[in-house]
Amino acid sequence: APRVRLHHLQQAKRDGTRFAMLTAYEQYSAEIFDQAGIDVLLVGDSASNNVFGNETSLPVTVDELLPLCRAVARSAKRALVVADLPFGSYEVSVQQGVETGVRFLKEGLAHAVKIEGGKYYADTVRAMVQAGVPVMAHIGFTPQSEHALGGYRVQGRGDDAQRLIDDAVALAEAGAFAVLMEMVPADTAAAVDAAVSVPTVGIGAGSATTGQVLVWQDMAGLRGGRMAKFVKQYADLRTTLSDAAKAYGEEVRSGQFPGPEHSF
Ligand code: KIV
Ligand code: NA
Repeated sequence: APRVRLHHLQQAKRDGTRFAMLTAYEQYSAEIFDQAGIDVLLVGDSASNNVFGNETSLPVTVDELLPLCRAVARSAKRALVVADLPFGSYEVSVQQGVETGVRFLKEGLAHAVKIEGGKYYADTVRAMVQAGVPVMAHIGFTPQSEHALGGYRVQGRGDDAQRLIDDAVALAEAGAFAVLMEMVPADTAAAVDAAVSVPTVGIGAGSATTGQVLVWQDMAGLRGGRMAKFVKQYADLRTTLSDAAKAYGEEVRSGQFPGPEHSF
């Protein structure tokens, strides 16, 4: 199948069809999701708390994310590969944003990048796009601003909806190829989607967006613990993997494994 390109996502918005996006951080998940027809793979800064063991997305660095991005890009033959620019790697200046964006395409082999933030980042988006770095904008709840926003809170309720519409319009105007919304009321997300001609992507943003995204370990039930309301679990990989590890451990301790069929 031909590579998913920005114009395919644009076409989906025009046609009123949907596309699916999942995070991926390494070879096998990328390969599996790509072959399963997932259209966009996001090397999220959520690697911070889903790969590197941190509690939030804040500590992960460019140098940590680049090799994960390369692994995903090498493994995905069809999906568009989007990389998150981590906290602190684009906020300082327009120039910093362009430099980090270029690194993710040059060293990370990503096809596009994603940055968090509202209309304040329009100049950064414009400069990155001019430099040849396609940008997906991420608005609504932006995890890198967790402390500034006072925790995980739904954004764009009631009168605050207009702020998100203004953000999306400014970012799309600046050249963002898509606008992702996280934890936004469904009616607000629908209004944002209607206000821009670029495709929107939702996570906890209802069903009116062109695309949907989930963290794969949430979607597949690999991560334990409490799930956010917006997560749907399509598998129980944690139990599957735990059962396999227990069975292996028992067979090793009992001498059942390896059997003659596994021996030379
Ligand atoms: O890092 C991430 O996983 C994200 C999402 C939108 C799921 O940014
Ligand atoms: Na992210």
